[in-house]
Amino acid sequence: MTEGPSLIRGLEGVVAAETRLCDLDGKNGRLAYGGYDIDELARHAAFEEVAYLLWHGELPRPAELAELKSALAAARQIPGDLSQGFRLMPRATDPMRALQAAVAILGMHDPDATDNSQAANRRKAARLTSQLATAICAHHRARSGKEPIPPSTDLSHAANFLYMLTGERPSAVIAKAFDASLTLYAEHEMNASTFTTRVITSTQSDLHSAVAGGVGALKGPLHGGAGEAVMRTLMEIGEVANVDAFSDQALATKRRLMGFGHRVYKAGDPRAAILRGMAEEACRQSGQFKWYEMAVKLHARINAAKGLIPNVDFYSAPLFYSLGIPVDLFTPVIAAGRIAGWTANIIEQHDDNRLIRPRGEYTGPGRRPWFPIDKR
Ligand code: CMC
Repeated sequence: MTEGPSLIRGLEGVVAAETRLCDLDGKNGRLAYGGYDIDELARHAAFEEVAYLLWHGELPRPAELAELKSALAAARQIPGDLSQGFRLMPRATDPMRALQAAVAILGMHDPDATDNSQAANRRKAARLTSQLATAICAHHRARSGKEPIPPSTDLSHAANFLYMLTGERPSAVIAKAFDASLTLYAEHEMNASTFTTRVITSTQSDLHSAVAGGVGALKGPLHGGAGEAVMRTLMEIGEVANVDAFSDQALATKRRLMGFGHRVYKAGDPRAAILRGMAEEACRQSGQFKWYEMAVKLHARINAAKGLIPNVDFYSAPLFYSLGIPVDLFTPVIAAGRIAGWTANIIEQHDDNRLIRPRGEYTGPGRRPWFPIDKR
């Protein structure tokens, strides 16, 4: 490129879209969806209310919430060929890869698949939010050699997820912790996966195609895959007594520690603070307090030595583990929350679209003569 603005690596600090969905104040470590503070939403709102807020811009009134809940419950079944497909996939298939394929297949069945109107996108957003949860659990059951557990029609979205995973109706406390986790993951402005969904949407492609791209972006360890990596780090450390030695070694070798650091938050990630409290409670209740203790000690050591802050994926790891979620399902669970934000961003992008098409700065050789194959 010879003209125009200069390169900004990683698009750091670049404002790529206007949004009414999420107000992320990185300097002061604050986050709000549609004007509502994340702390209040996690504490008081059900995930269904948060999804409605993101899709419609306002919290639902009672009749609107009831309508959304019944639409979500009615959409929980997944097509038989998808369930069959899960059984045919190699057992070792990564759950995020299976999820990406599932989203594409769900798009083949959706009655509004190619309709990009706002009304159709809202219908698809609700359907896919429900079906994504069912698909994650059905794939997990299939790879474990088990029959899928048909979704319940009376449980909340969060409680039904845990039910489809385990076959047991979760306690109110566990269901609330999981519900709040989905809310905390629901939306986060121009993170890599959401930006991916916006880029795909900007070509006037459809919602399922955009979400499939988002799933692919979320999978990476610098993004949603970090939660799983945090748990593997805690398992590698093994015991609270090993944290100091592990930290010394990690710092000496400049190891990248998953669950630490953030592109936008430099003073602290407000979601991590909420998740820390939830992890403490869940680890205590499940009799696995050591994971929380290890996380707290590691946090203190790394923060003191490098000033790095724990991000959303740090304390969600011991939380999810103590809720009985298999480690390689942590990222799919994040997708189960982020689907609300992805689809809200897709709706917003369609409503005021301009093709997203940045430039590249050319660094290759200058113009040179072409030689036929026998002269090279
Ligand atoms: N461990 C060790 N050093 C780190 C870490 C970390 N986790 N994060 C940043 N640093 C250091 C990095 O080495 C660099 O130091 P120096 O300037 O001396 O080379 C400095 O901090 C800046 O790092 P960066 O990679 O240029 O910062 P970034 O804004 O590009 O990266 C990040 C942000 C999230 C990719 C990075 O902090 C990271 O890799 N963290 C670990 C992965 C992770 O937890 N990802 C989840 C992110 S939040 C949730 C989500 O997006 O899903």
